[in-house]
Amino acid sequence: MLPPSALPGISPTRGEIGSCVAFTIAAETPSDVAAREALLDRAMGPQRRRKSSEKLRRGRLPSAGLAFVARDAAGAVLGTVRLWDVRLGEGRARALLLGPLAVEPSLKGAGVGSALMCHAIAEAESLGHRAILLVGDAPYYARFGFSADKTGSLAMPGPYERHRFLALELVEGALDGASGVLKAAGRRQRSTGLETAA
Ligand SMILES: CC(C)(COP(=O)(O)OP(=O)(O)OC[C@H]1O[C@@H](n2cnc3c(N)ncnc32)[C@H](O)[C@@H]1OP(=O)(O)O)[C@@H](O)C(=O)NCCC(=O)NCCS
Repeated sequence: MLPPSALPGISPTRGEIGSCVAFTIAAETPSDVAAREALLDRAMGPQRRRKSSEKLRRGRLPSAGLAFVARDAAGAVLGTVRLWDVRLGEGRARALLLGPLAVEPSLKGAGVGSALMCHAIAEAESLGHRAILLVGDAPYYARFGFSADKTGSLAMPGPYERHRFLALELVEGALDGASGVLKAAGRRQRSTGLETAA
């Protein structure tokens, strides 16, 4: 877990101080699912379920150990990020797909999104994953090392804007020669209704 004291401007001991907010990053638990879904609806709206990324997530579980929430001191969910196993084209190469990343709208700019991203990237690397892909705003994700440089020969399974299709290699050269349409490769989930809305 990233200690709150490691986050600039974030107090580890109090709730909100001015524009700062105290939070911790933790593994998502089953009891977080309803709060996470409500947060995603508030932050992204119902259109989120129509994204091409959703085709790679629907009916699957996140990659083992790679679903995180940000919590306030009372345990409320302030932010969410998950990573998903995907296969790169027809070959055997694997990678992670990151998303959705979302933060409670009233807390934008407090560092919650960056803390979730840094934690997720570090955990993915420590688990031995080689590359992370996502579809998102390049100006935001560039600060974590993502770019469209290595996604030119890859494609999402549905409509997307190519300049928003980004990658970060955790192992240098991990995406060299990778081509084709991404395919879901995650563990299948048993349907309980709630999770499928992820
Ligand atoms: C995008 C999001 C996750 C960022 O989380 P956050 O906690 O507000 O971000 P942080 O506080 O860590 O970082 C804030 C910085 O990112 C910048 N930023 C935030 N969203 C951005 C965007 N879409 N494009 C470019 N920069 C962005 C801010 O301007 C700020 O820049 P600064 O550090 O130079 O002042 C959050 O705004 C959110 O949930 N948005 C709605 C859901 C969404 O669109 N998710 C997908 C993102 S493509």
